[in-house]
Amino acid sequence: MVNNIIVAVDGYSSCGKSTIAKALAKYAGYIYVDTGAMYRATALYAQRAGLANHLEQVVDLLSDIHISFIQTPDGQHVTLNGEDVESQIRTLEIGNLASQISTIKEVRAFLVAQQQAMGDHKGIVMDGRDIGTVVFPNAELKLFLTASPEVRAERRFKELQAKGENPVFEEVLRDTNDRDYRDTHRAESPLRQAEDALVVDNSLMTREEQMEHIIEIFQRAL
Ligand code: DC
Repeated sequence: MVNNIIVAVDGYSSCGKSTIAKALAKYAGYIYVDTGAMYRATALYAQRAGLANHLEQVVDLLSDIHISFIQTPDGQHVTLNGEDVESQIRTLEIGNLASQISTIKEVRAFLVAQQQAMGDHKGIVMDGRDIGTVVFPNAELKLFLTASPEVRAERRFKELQAKGENPVFEEVLRDTNDRDYRDTHRAESPLRQAEDALVVDNSLMTREEQMEHIIEIFQRAL
């Protein structure tokens, strides 16, 4: 595509950001970057280092953490120091640790610098919480996705079941609300809608309807 732009996709956890961002990147022939996976991989590193209860100490180990993405037959996977950790990072436990570790200023600076470098050539769709506000405040297109906590908890509940876990809906809902609270109330780059972001509430949209809507917005942005 002649016109390469940066698309920032932000929003609450489990509102389908990555599905949409991935599909849009594929449609546009752009690179896709899941920044949540980077926070999760950092959390996994800290957990393995025995720091689950002292996450702040990971700050001294940041230079030992190398995160990248590889393409596999079943999509993009995140690697931690060369190891494919895609399945290890997709658990509730690592999600919670990632949410906690993402409140640490030094961790954010470490990951944000890498994310900004990935956008040097534009032609990128990046999803996260602070992409339109901090990572790429000048992104040509900013989307802010949202859906009700119940709808998002239901989606996450089904995802966990599909992975063979045995979730309890009330716990998943509580966890969703806790994570929303932490993501929006932390001191460092809290989740908030950029002033120039377009809001898409997908509580009542099918994936196809949403995709159609977003492609239309993207075409207009080009
Ligand atoms: O999108 P996710 O659930 O994979 O993200 C995991 C955690 O990482 C989430 O609770 C908040 C944090 N995160 C962040 O602070 N900033 C980002 N750009 C992406 C994720």
